[in-house]
Amino acid sequence: MTAAIQRLILSALFVISMDGWAATASYLDASLSSDKRVELLMNQMTLDEKIGQMCQFVGEASDIDFDSKDTKSDYTLALGDRAGLIKEGKIGSFLKVSTYQEANILQSLAEESRLKIPLLIATDAIHGHGMYMGPTTIYATQIGLAASFEPELAELMAEYTAHEMRATGFQWAYSPNIEVVRDSRWGRIGETFGEDPYLVTEMGNAMVRGYQGKDFSSSTNVLASAKHFVGGGIAYNGVNGAPADVSERTLHEIFFPPFVGSIDNGVYTIMPAHNEINGIPAHAHEEYLTDLIRDEWGFEGFYVSDWMDIQRLESAHRIVDSEREADKVAVLAGMDVHMQGPGFFDNVKDLVKNGEIPVSRIDHAVSKILYSKFQLGLFENRYTDKQTVEATLLKESHLELALKTAQKSMVLLKNNGVLPLQQDIGRILITGPNADHQALLGEWARVQPHNNVITVLEGIKEQYAQGTKIDHVAIARHDVISSAELSRVGRLAKRADVVIAVMGENSLRFDKNKTSAENVDRPTLNLIGNQIELLQKIKASGAKLVVVLVNGGPIASEWLTENADAIVEAWEPGMYGGQAIAETLVGKINPGGKLPITVPRSVGHLQSFYNHKPSAFHRGGFYLSSRKPLYYFGYGLSYTTFDYSNLSMPETMSTSDSLSLSVDIKNTGDMDGDEVVMIYINDKVSTVTTPVRKLVAFKRVHLKRGEKQTLSFTIANKDFALLDRRMNSVIEPGEFEIIIGDRLKVATINAQN
Ligand code: BGC
Repeated sequence: MTAAIQRLILSALFVISMDGWAATASYLDASLSSDKRVELLMNQMTLDEKIGQMCQFVGEASDIDFDSKDTKSDYTLALGDRAGLIKEGKIGSFLKVSTYQEANILQSLAEESRLKIPLLIATDAIHGHGMYMGPTTIYATQIGLAASFEPELAELMAEYTAHEMRATGFQWAYSPNIEVVRDSRWGRIGETFGEDPYLVTEMGNAMVRGYQGKDFSSSTNVLASAKHFVGGGIAYNGVNGAPADVSERTLHEIFFPPFVGSIDNGVYTIMPAHNEINGIPAHAHEEYLTDLIRDEWGFEGFYVSDWMDIQRLESAHRIVDSEREADKVAVLAGMDVHMQGPGFFDNVKDLVKNGEIPVSRIDHAVSKILYSKFQLGLFENRYTDKQTVEATLLKESHLELALKTAQKSMVLLKNNGVLPLQQDIGRILITGPNADHQALLGEWARVQPHNNVITVLEGIKEQYAQGTKIDHVAIARHDVISSAELSRVGRLAKRADVVIAVMGENSLRFDKNKTSAENVDRPTLNLIGNQIELLQKIKASGAKLVVVLVNGGPIASEWLTENADAIVEAWEPGMYGGQAIAETLVGKINPGGKLPITVPRSVGHLQSFYNHKPSAFHRGGFYLSSRKPLYYFGYGLSYTTFDYSNLSMPETMSTSDSLSLSVDIKNTGDMDGDEVVMIYINDKVSTVTTPVRKLVAFKRVHLKRGEKQTLSFTIANKDFALLDRRMNSVIEPGEFEIIIGDRLKVATINAQN
């Protein structure tokens, strides 16, 4: 059938089914381009309907039994004013919607509005559709994915997460969080990709592609949201939302690149940060939101404000004295969607009527929002059903990937030979607050049904034949371990050959005892509470001490580094984390992850990151303490060994070229394993200071025992550039060191004009 005939039939159908409305409903013609449909629809919209698209509200998430008969009227009643607003076309999107039934009812209310514009339904689906009120697939959190150094994993995870979202009626993920972290006290590190701008960029780009596909036009794509622009990872004292005071140079070198990368990969929404940057709150930053991001970097999508952050221009930042002014400043700066609640609509309408916000600004915002709704296919199908939900959530392929994200994210920090644990190890004691706890799931996840999660205790039991003696001492809380618990551990450790202590943090969103998360920042980087006391008891028993860390932000404990026989950094490995950890401990998985963030010696050693400037430590040191971190970015051991050789690259290059090099890598140990080959460069002498080294390429490879591979890399020309004194990007002729991995194989190349 030709497009023209299809169009004819479609318009005939509108006439038959929709009567008078049909004459004006040309935007419903799915054969037209999304741009055309936006234009047609906007021609018919009133100012109220336009501003309505910029308004986001929260769902009811109540305990209504959606499976009972007459849910729509019960739910609509519970929605109160919001139900009427939807029908009047005064709400464009929702967040905090609980289930697919709720999503369907909201959409049906929107279909009762004059123009029948569907709603966008958003959620914080960052490592799985974790805020959904029902069982879903929960993968390792972002910091673990970063440790895998496999962007492909992140891409697939975002893709599968998008599938679960669309199946349940959600089309907008508030993810990825691509803030670079420079202060490990921040409670949100688990949802980030760590400290290195290049790694964060690669991971963020992969997630954007996974969520959005090519152009979010498939029924399994969702919109991504690159967040939070910018500087939350370096806010005062690591406190969420506190001011960020950071030089323009550091912004351009460290914090901006991941956002540029996401935009180049087509990210359609961006969320500004809670914080101010150098005196200007992110939500009011016209020079960034409009001049830099839209006009210079070419961002084509729309902005969504973060939770209450427009109101906070008045209440927290005090740059205006009323919410009306706050709304004005934010919209004029470039803000398109207001998260969340009433007030914004009336203020913006009044501001437009008064000539304080031009209609063109509203039109611009609305055209972007509507474009996404057309592209996503929501006008054609806004509903979902039970069958689709059941066929998609927790699919086999998703579960397999959940396990893989956990396996690939393990980082072995220390091993004095105790790992891998043998089958005839003797008696095992497993304990610690995370031994049998769903803190494995990390932030932005609800507690899952017990049977869907494998805890470390369960994972270990699975790895040992019946008859192996495995004791378990449950520890109730992360922050306070009782004396009864301590003495029980001490007693049982004495008869154990090895103790597996699963320690760390708890970032579960709805756990009242969480120790690190959004708005729960870390005043210490050490194990919190008296966890070290527990480890000391074990140490005193003489049993081997294997410590597994479950955490988002790095754990800095000199005692632990010196005294444990082995340390596995497991991050927040998701629903099958316990299986992956157990497989790692017994050697079925050879850990191949590397640190995506430096582990400092203590909180007092902050800021601590690998790509510091050359003079960072040229004079001072710390009182009675080394200035070296416990473990640098990129660190991670293996059960096998690797040897690098035959680095091949030219001795000179032109400043206008990229650099191609190759290197051989051989597995020289006794086990198959993964190695992450990392290439860093160091500009040896530069007219402005440059970091001692910066990561410019990496590749994770699997090598069988004895296997050798030749890996080739191309280092982009721009990676050799610096920002000169006038902030122009230039490549200065001279010598660059090329540093391979933490093996520090260094070669020098001379760049010539
Ligand atoms: C967080 C965002 C999140 C939003 C909606 C805010 O407090 O900063 O990252 O997307 O809440 O849940």
